[in-house]
Amino acid sequence: MKNEQRNILVAAAMVATALCASLATVASATGDTSGATVTITLPPDARSFGPGPGQSIAQANCTICHAADYVYMQPPLTADQWRAEVTKMQKVYGAPIDASAVDALVQYLVGQNGKQ
Ligand code: HEC
Repeated sequence: MKNEQRNILVAAAMVATALCASLATVASATGDTSGATVTITLPPDARSFGPGPGQSIAQANCTICHAADYVYMQPPLTADQWRAEVTKMQKVYGAPIDASAVDALVQYLVGQNGKQ
């Protein structure tokens, strides 16, 4: 082996050693050397629609795009306000809600989170 080739090999070995040392430093800095089990707590599953007449209609028409949570996150709404909400879903967001389902939906929504 020529001297030049040997020098390149030595240089490569030095780079590799330096890289290993710095990786070891990263591993110990993140505390990732023990293999210990880490436990994390995920947020609870989204709330689903409560029981009552119309539950399956709401399930079928409202959860295509978002969780039922949206209904329960609102302040209690009147029937007119829920109707406006359903109309908004149709007109603004393009929800494919059949006109014949709207009355049942409004009644159900008032029952779930409504006021007079
Ligand atoms: C085509 C998709 C789609 C469908 C189907 C849909 N929504 Fe929505 N909904 C949206 C979007 C988009 C938003 C706004 C999301 C945001 O602002 O983060 C929204 C927001 C809401 C909100 C929050 C208040 C508001 O006006 O932004 C409520 C309440 C709601 N939806 C109820 C319903 C109900 C009840 C149904 C079934 C009758 C329904 N949605 C069906 C798309 C939809």
